[in-house]
Amino acid sequence: MSGRIAVLASGIGSNAEALADACEDGLINGSLCVVASNRPGAPVLARAAARGLPTLALDHRAYPDRAAFDTALNEALLPFEPDLIVLAGFMRILTPTFITPWRGRLVNIHPSLLPLYPGLDTHARALAAGDREAGATVHFVIEALDAGPAILQARVPIRAGDDPGTLAARVQREEHRIYPLAVQACLSGRVRLAGDRAELDETVLPASGAEEAALAR
Ligand code: GRF
Repeated sequence: MSGRIAVLASGIGSNAEALADACEDGLINGSLCVVASNRPGAPVLARAAARGLPTLALDHRAYPDRAAFDTALNEALLPFEPDLIVLAGFMRILTPTFITPWRGRLVNIHPSLLPLYPGLDTHARALAAGDREAGATVHFVIEALDAGPAILQARVPIRAGDDPGTLAARVQREEHRIYPLAVQACLSGRVRLAGDRAELDETVLPASGAEEAALAR
């Protein structure tokens, strides 16, 4: 069965684009049923519209608080009947009002090797700490910020002379590769959230998520 994916994004949309490409190429057995943003002027919306994808803009500034925005977002997404909600650079903290009903069908990509560096400025923090590697984590979203169990990680080396920009570009290339793999694994039902743990083929995954080769099978 072909899956329906709602992408939520606030910025450029390179991950949304990679997911749309993966659907077209058959790497994901599914399609983007909507690309939604909390920023009406976000480039991701124009990029999605140019591909002929449905878009939705819901300006968070029009709502009195996070819960009101989350209720409106949920109601706006329901008509698109998503099987999976994929956060791709969505720069808005979601509350349990949104997260709880979508638990297990809500994933995010974070630009660090979680549990290292939840929150913002991950690349600058990895450089300041003198780390030798960085990376990205696809994880289920649970009520605690950036704390949901990992589905898949990608690692990259940190090189002498790196700045947050060069490191971000290296990590992003990996994001574009691993996000489609993880999304397909969720849509197929091989990867699931059981309580607060991620499982692959009914086996609990370690904190670093699945082996990529196991997901690519
Ligand atoms: C990505 O680096 C992602 O890890 C982070 O936000 C960025 C979004 O980039 N959460 P894009 O809009 O997909 O190009």
